[in-house]
Amino acid sequence: MALIASTRVLGRVVRRAVSNSVHARFGRFRAWPNDALLLDEPLAMAEQQTDRLRRIYAHALRDAWDGPALFRAAMEKHGGIQLARAQREALAHPISMLMWGELAAWIVSAELAVRLENPDARLAASAQVFDEARHFYVLRDYLAALHVPVPKLDPYFAIGARRLLATKDLTVKLFAMQLLAEGTAMAIFRFLADAKVEPVLTELLPYIEKDEARHVGLGVLYLPERLRELPRRELMKIRDITYGIGDLFGATQIRFARHYAAIGADPRDLFRAADKMLHELSQKIGPIPGTDLEFFPTNPTKAPNYEENLDLVLPRPGHEGRLVGRLIRGAIDFGARTLPA
Ligand SMILES: [Fe+2]
Ligand SMILES: [Fe+2]
Repeated sequence: MALIASTRVLGRVVRRAVSNSVHARFGRFRAWPNDALLLDEPLAMAEQQTDRLRRIYAHALRDAWDGPALFRAAMEKHGGIQLARAQREALAHPISMLMWGELAAWIVSAELAVRLENPDARLAASAQVFDEARHFYVLRDYLAALHVPVPKLDPYFAIGARRLLATKDLTVKLFAMQLLAEGTAMAIFRFLADAKVEPVLTELLPYIEKDEARHVGLGVLYLPERLRELPRRELMKIRDITYGIGDLFGATQIRFARHYAAIGADPRDLFRAADKMLHELSQKIGPIPGTDLEFFPTNPTKAPNYEENLDLVLPRPGHEGRLVGRLIRGAIDFGARTLPA
């Protein structure tokens, strides 16, 4: 009897082992782990200086902050948000866009942490997951404290973010999220903080902005390594998608100009800062080799016709601007009403 029972148990154990081995053999992680991750020499001993990508992780740990505690302290210090309703309604537009942007960045950084092959880049992305989670919570709290209906997400931003989230191409994700979205977000955070729109927000923004600088750092440090391995045809495809997402994010900011003006901030300052930032990032990455084509749209602020072009898209306060500019803005608003988003 004992022999039969033992044989049955053994049979079950073998059946489970075979079943698991078949699943593991054909599963998503069938080739895990990759021996290329191994070292010939211990890393900590062999390297005198910490790699810059790994430093992003170390700095994230060093500079981590307590989102809910900071939010509560700022609210108590300033007696809540003291803004007229019309201004709170206007502020809800950029804040809700930034909040959804944080959620998108949270999702993308988590995917990068899982899917990037380079372990140092993966380490930096892992730290970013914590940052973005904190940013989403803080901005969601702040939006709730505005006590106004949450505006519908701008259609251009929605399309750009969905396109970016849906693509499987990690190089596109690194370009569109780490450089375009994070770079633009940094410029917006700084712009809102400098304009001192509202004291609670002014206290929170520098913390978020400092984190975002590390996230841009991941893109700047890691993208060149990825781009080196790709053929030009692939690079052109990546550029095509990234460029399109950049156009969409830009259209949102043109549409938001009236909200920024309503809270007493000059949107032209934001455009100058964002254009400067994106141009510098683009210079750091360089053009597609053998061409002068940049990976995403930029407007160098030092170009002789920069201010003239800015007048076109965003006329100076109190001015209607030229007809061609009015047509461009009309087309953007028409698109927002008609594009499926
Ligand atoms: Fe963020
Ligand atoms: Fe970020």
